[in-house]
Amino acid sequence: MIPVILSGGSGTRLWPLSRAKKPKQFLSLVNEKSMLQNTLLRLKGIEQLAPPLVVCNEDHRFMVAEQLRELQISNAGILLEPVGRNTAPAIAIAAIQALQTEQDPVLLVLAADHVIQDIPAFQQAVAEAMVAATAGKLVTFGIVPVSAHTGYGYIRHNTNSIADMPNTFAVTEFKEKPDKSMAEHYLASGEYCWNSGMFMFKASSLLAELEKFAPDIVKACRLAVSEASQDLDFVRVDKTAFSTSPADSLDYAVLEKSDNTVMVPLNAGWSDVGSYDALWEVMAKDAQGNACRGDVMLEATYNSYVNAEEKLVAVIGLDNVIVVETKDAVLVADKNDIQQVKNIVQRLQSYG
Ligand code: GDD
Ligand code: MG
Repeated sequence: MIPVILSGGSGTRLWPLSRAKKPKQFLSLVNEKSMLQNTLLRLKGIEQLAPPLVVCNEDHRFMVAEQLRELQISNAGILLEPVGRNTAPAIAIAAIQALQTEQDPVLLVLAADHVIQDIPAFQQAVAEAMVAATAGKLVTFGIVPVSAHTGYGYIRHNTNSIADMPNTFAVTEFKEKPDKSMAEHYLASGEYCWNSGMFMFKASSLLAELEKFAPDIVKACRLAVSEASQDLDFVRVDKTAFSTSPADSLDYAVLEKSDNTVMVPLNAGWSDVGSYDALWEVMAKDAQGNACRGDVMLEATYNSYVNAEEKLVAVIGLDNVIVVETKDAVLVADKNDIQQVKNIVQRLQSYG
C-alpha cells in the first residue's frame, strides 16, 4: 500500500498563522511536529507500507523535503504540481506515477492537515478498508456528524455491512458541501456520515472511475506524468499538460457520481482543524479551558485560544476569545465569530 499525502491546500481560515508561503499543513499547531509530519507518523506500524508519495505545489518542495528529513524519511516520493488543480488531478497524477513503481498498488490517500487523536482506531479502520480496496472498491472513511457543517461531504450508506468486508458499508448517496438546509436535513435524519477526506482504492479502480466521469482530467494527467522531469529528489509533472486539466475535487468529480463507493466508519478523534475554534477543541487545555502556545500570560481568562509567536502576549478578563500574534499580523476575535476570518483574508487578497 502506498500512502499518498495531499499537501497542496492553502488553509486560509487559519490566517495569520497559515500563509501562502507556509500553509497549515507545514505548521506545528497541536504539538511540536507539523501537520504533515503527524500525518506521516500516524502510519507507523501499518503492515506492508510502501514509501509515501507526497503531492504538493512546487513552491513548497523544499519545505516538504526538510520536514521529511526531520523525520528521517529518505525514501519518499515528492510529486510537484506546477499549478493547483484541486484534489482530483493531484490524486490522478499520484495514481499514474504509482503505477510506474508497483503493479496496481492500493493507495491510501490522506489529507496532510488533519488531526487524528486515536491512532490505533485509525489504523484499524485502514486495515478494514484494505479488504474493500483490494476488491476494487473506492473506500471513504465516515465520521459521525455532530453539526450541520456545510464544508464537508455527506455520505448516506446502508445499515448492514457488506458480506466478507469487515465494518464496510455500501454508499447509497454522496453529497459534497450541501447548503445549510440540506445539511440540517442530513444531520436530523441520522442516516449520513461526514466524509473525512481520506480515501483508499487501487490505482486502477480510481483511474477507471475518473476515466468515466472526468476523462479530460485523466488525459491531461497522463500526459503531465509521461512528460515529467526529475529535479533533484523531486518529480515535476509537465506544466503545459497539467495546466490543461480541469480543476475539480475528487468529491465532486467522482464520489458524487460513482456507484462503486463504500464507507468504513472512523471513530478516532478526527478533526480537519478547519478553523481556530476547531483547533482549540483538539488542543490540551488548562483548568480554565484555555489552549495556549508560546509566551502567554493570562488573568481571569477562560475558554480561549492564545498563540504568541514573537512577543509576550498577556490577556486579562476575557472569555471565549482567539488571540494570534505573529511577526507581521495580530488577530483578536470572539471565538463565536471566528468564521469571519475569511472576510479579512479576502480583503487582504483584494489589496494584492
Ligand atoms: N496536492 C494537492 N493539490 N493537495 C490539495 C490540493 C491540490 O490542488 N487542493 C487541496 N489539497 C489538499 C489539502 O491540503 C487538504 O489536505 C486536502 O487536499 C483536502 O482539500 P481541502 O481543500 O481542504 O478540501 P475540503 O476541506 O474543502 O473538503 C474535503 O475534506 C472534507 C473533510 O475535511 C472533502 O473531501 C470533503 O468531502 C470532506 O468532508
Ligand atoms: Mg479541508
